[in-house]
Amino acid sequence: MNSQIWWYTARSGGILASLLLAASVLWGLAITTRAANRITRPAWLLDLHRFLGAAALVFTGIHVVAILLDTYVHFGLAEVLVPLTGTWHPVAVAWGIVGFYLLVAIEVTSLVRSRLPQRWWRSVHFASFPLFVVTAIHGLSAGTDRHSPLMVWGTIAISVVVAALTTVRVISAMPPRPQAAVPVPHRF
Ligand code: HEM
Repeated sequence: MNSQIWWYTARSGGILASLLLAASVLWGLAITTRAANRITRPAWLLDLHRFLGAAALVFTGIHVVAILLDTYVHFGLAEVLVPLTGTWHPVAVAWGIVGFYLLVAIEVTSLVRSRLPQRWWRSVHFASFPLFVVTAIHGLSAGTDRHSPLMVWGTIAISVVVAALTTVRVISAMPPRPQAAVPVPHRF
């Protein structure tokens, strides 16, 4: 069991990071779609969204450190930081590395948000959607548990909810169609 502790840590860290990331994305979408319906946005809702994102990054860190410490497959620093440099499922791992950089970019720009032009912060924050997609592909292609029905159907179910809320979000952000001119009746 002891020799496998890092492997278990890597797996549970990856799964927890994915769940926290999904929760953060879903929470963020729930806030913005409700905002579109003009319902108030108490500060704690945003704080929870931020907390979930930060926790996802912390567990990704635990996931990656455990992969470095696990001796069953050797991973060096370059292999966990530079996509396609390793020999163990390089493409599956590369999705995770890309996800890691996107997550770091989103977290860092959120921490210094007040010092950035709103447009820059927003553009980086929209990377949450590709981030969700690449980490889902990574989990389903790299993981030991990738064939487990819970992992597969859990990822599919969460992805469907994210896609549905994203559609609502996009539709609610569209400018309203110009009203057709109502013909004014002539007075005789
Ligand atoms: C530098 C970045 C990353 C590297 C090098 C990396 C590497 C790996 C490796 C080697 C595995 C296979 C572990 C195994 O089952 O034996 C794995 C699985 C996994 N990774 Fe990553 N990963 C990275 C980032 C991420 C990120 C950002 C997430 C999610 C937020 C994530 C979530 C997962 C999940 C859910 C699994 C499946 C665990 C399982 O099946 O038990 N990874 N990763």
